[in-house]
Amino acid sequence: MEITLNGKSVPVQGEATVLEVARREGIWIPTLCHHPGLPPYGACRLCIVEVKAGGRQGLTASCTLPPAEGLVVETDSPRVRERRKVLVQLLLAVVRDAPEIRELARRLGVEKAPFKPPEEKRECILCGLCVRVCETAGNSAIGFAFRGSQRRVSPPFGKAAADCIGCRACAKVCPTGAVRFEQAGDRLTGEPWQADLQVARCTSCGRPLAARLLLDFARKKVVCSDFEGLCPACRRRKVARSVKRRG
Ligand code: SF4
Ligand code: FES
Repeated sequence: MEITLNGKSVPVQGEATVLEVARREGIWIPTLCHHPGLPPYGACRLCIVEVKAGGRQGLTASCTLPPAEGLVVETDSPRVRERRKVLVQLLLAVVRDAPEIRELARRLGVEKAPFKPPEEKRECILCGLCVRVCETAGNSAIGFAFRGSQRRVSPPFGKAAADCIGCRACAKVCPTGAVRFEQAGDRLTGEPWQADLQVARCTSCGRPLAARLLLDFARKKVVCSDFEGLCPACRRRKVARSVKRRG
């Protein structure tokens, strides 16, 4: 199958979305709520492209648009550029200090937000990456709550995250820095989920290793039956010793 991207015919090589085809072709399309390892969500709309033929015409999110024979797509048309600019201006009004948003604004030629910031300071843009990564790789400890302007990501009932295992995947994927974990001594705390977890130590050298619940989770879910609670350095030493013995 072939599609037309910015006037050029390109083959589809098993990609599930136009965004993936464009990326393989080296075409830059900005994204905020997309992660290649997570199901598409279509929340931020930054990845919009203009469908000219072969499908429903108009602006649509490329991260959820499947390639189809005869599809003609413009990734950088004046309409696309204009819409992306407005979206980034809105984001800047909400989270103007987030480096990833500022960098996007710079690339899209947006200098400032002509919109009034919300009265309540916010750091979350509701991209849903944290929720999806928690469902996929973690323990489904958080989800969306409320609707409209009250919509937010939260542990169940707005209470401290009882199911958080401290994998910190949510903090890694968050594009605005709204999720933060801090480790002090034997405690790992995570905001805004109010997570408070005990940290286990390496069974060999005694250095803090990871949240105890995460290690229990790994023992149960991951294929590592010989997992002994060793830190990476001790594990490397152990492997090196056994290789030497065999040699
Ligand atoms: S906390 Fe971060 S990752 Fe989660 S929805 Fe908000 S911006 Fe996205
Ligand atoms: S990356 Fe496609 S809608 Fe966010």
